[in-house]
Amino acid sequence: MIDTPFQILEIGPGNGDFLLSLAAQNPNKKIAAIEVRKKRFQKILKRLEKAGIQNVFLLWGNAKTMVPRFFKEDSLEKIYILFPDPWPKRRHAFHRLLDIAFLTLLAGILKKRGELILATDSKDYAAWIQKNVEATASFKEVSFERDFSETFFEKVWKKEGKPILYFSYERV
Ligand SMILES: C[S@@+](CC[C@H](N)C(=O)[O-])C[C@H]1O[C@@H](n2cnc3c(N)ncnc32)[C@H](O)[C@@H]1O
Repeated sequence: MIDTPFQILEIGPGNGDFLLSLAAQNPNKKIAAIEVRKKRFQKILKRLEKAGIQNVFLLWGNAKTMVPRFFKEDSLEKIYILFPDPWPKRRHAFHRLLDIAFLTLLAGILKKRGELILATDSKDYAAWIQKNVEATASFKEVSFERDFSETFFEKVWKKEGKPILYFSYERV
């Protein structure tokens, strides 16, 4: 368990655009991020060093196994998961991140009234997530108030004209 009290967690920061702006906008918050792909992790690390950002702790690995190992119960104010891989094929669905077990873990590390903020371009994935969120009985949906800059994938999907779905859930 890391003894630093993080306030914000991003899972799957990708190329790190959003993470860097989040860190700059919240200089007094301690931010953790978990990226599973090594090349992306290394790229973000370089970007953080180059920008002189001190308030981000970047982890390389699978969030599903790292969340219970590294984060305290009842500790985070916000978790961002923006454009998680949708794995649209049925035979690949087991790869999806936001299953009931993982949502239950996320609810456990959020403080009461802490927020889980999600975005996706996939209607199917959004419906699946909502069903899972309801099954955990740990969250209530609250109105989405954008407090972040565009992410890399958001720009890509917008350019392709895809509608984007955003959700905020508060831990009850
Ligand atoms: C579609 S990209 C979105 C990147 C970024 N959030 C954005 O909006 O530009 C999904 C990211 O999640 C990462 N990812 C997927 N599964 C993960 C897991 N189990 N743990 C940590 N990161 C994961 C991928 O490597 C990738 O960087």
